[in-house]
Amino acid sequence: MEYLHHLGKYELGKELGEGATSVVREAVHTESGKKYAMKIFKALSKKSCFDNEVEALLAVDHPNVVRVHEVFEDAERGRLEDRVDPCPPSHRPGRFSREMSTPSRSSEKVGKSLRKSSFDDDKDDPPTLSETATTENESESSGDSVPSLLSCQEGEFQATSTTSVEAKEELFAVPPRTPPQPKRTYTTCGTRAIVLPLSSNGDVLSYLLDGGAFEERVARTLFKRCLEAVQACHNAGILHRDVKPDNLLFTENFDVLLSDFGFSRRRPDDEENVKLYGDLGSRGYIAPEVGDGKGYDHRCDLWSLGVTLFVMMTGRPPYASESPRDYWFNLLLNRRYSRFWRVVELLHKHSFPDMFKDLINKMLCPEPAERITIEKALEHPWMREQLLSQNDLASIMRNHSNN
Ligand SMILES: Nc1ncnc2c1ncn2[C@@H]1O[C@H](COP(=O)(O)OP(=O)(O)O)[C@@H](O)[C@H]1O
Ligand SMILES: [Mg+2]
Repeated sequence: MEYLHHLGKYELGKELGEGATSVVREAVHTESGKKYAMKIFKALSKKSCFDNEVEALLAVDHPNVVRVHEVFEDAERGRLEDRVDPCPPSHRPGRFSREMSTPSRSSEKVGKSLRKSSFDDDKDDPPTLSETATTENESESSGDSVPSLLSCQEGEFQATSTTSVEAKEELFAVPPRTPPQPKRTYTTCGTRAIVLPLSSNGDVLSYLLDGGAFEERVARTLFKRCLEAVQACHNAGILHRDVKPDNLLFTENFDVLLSDFGFSRRRPDDEENVKLYGDLGSRGYIAPEVGDGKGYDHRCDLWSLGVTLFVMMTGRPPYASESPRDYWFNLLLNRRYSRFWRVVELLHKHSFPDMFKDLINKMLCPEPAERITIEKALEHPWMREQLLSQNDLASIMRNHSNN
């Protein structure tokens, strides 16, 4: 990506993070001096990621969901829209363009040293059968290997890679709506970017990598806010489809914000039960029904939330890959929860609270129709135990090692 020093009235500073579709940099507004984060979309990232993100951020209004401050769009596109339709494409009634539904794949590596991700033409093309097979082979673990999001090697925590996969997306109608608009600026350099409030404490994954699992009260307090954030998205008709600790940001005072809506989709208001078919999400967090060809809905986010809670409480992923050949995943697929927890607790040399295990079992339920709902999860007995005040949460997190 070309190194930008300025965009609009923002001076760009250090890199804050990088994902499959973007690089996020500190940005200082030259007039107000206020600091922001600018998410600059990679040139080869699909336009749909940018459109999805802007549309979702405009549709959801919740204290635990990131807000968009300003949008920079491609001038060429802007001119075309002015000629054809004054309404931005993400809010235009009708159908998503075919381009937005083109199958594509991207790879995203997660972790301190693996957080860098690449995008190239080949990877953005529709996957061929052989490519798909390679991806699957890569992601399959043999036998009963131990899942290791956070495996300790030579004194350093490293994450195994999780791969974001995007493929064929079902087209569906988007109803017209008139959300409040952030400032939109058209760029002549083709750059697409969004300006977000700066989350000065980075993302939740960094804290897990550096300081290990969260203590129970911390995990519960953070997770409650995550549930409420995803609930607000679903109520606004938005499926996130990429819930994971690296897409959860910490504000200056350690409140948590759900971010990265590049893979999200808006469900038409009049089609409650519409199904999606895109094989999309981040490896390690994708619900079993995603990509099985029968379609899926908002309940896929509940599975990803379940994996996220497991990671927050244990410091490890619940399985190595979404494959029936993965020993751990297979136990979940077959609902052999007692066996699953026996091996988890043996591995951790630690037993976890029964109520926590019960909630995880209900979230990591392979059958979406039987999976716990967000409302029920919020009322679950484990969620009703002690929560931390914001000040206590912040002071515990400040001591949770993070570089
Ligand atoms: N508002 C922000 N403040 C600080 N860091 C951020 C912010 N938004 C994103 N980041 C960092 O950048 C990383 C990539 O951003 P993300 O929105 O997840 O992009 P991608 O869609 O490419 O995955 C995040 O994991 C996080 O570490
Ligand atoms: Mg991300």
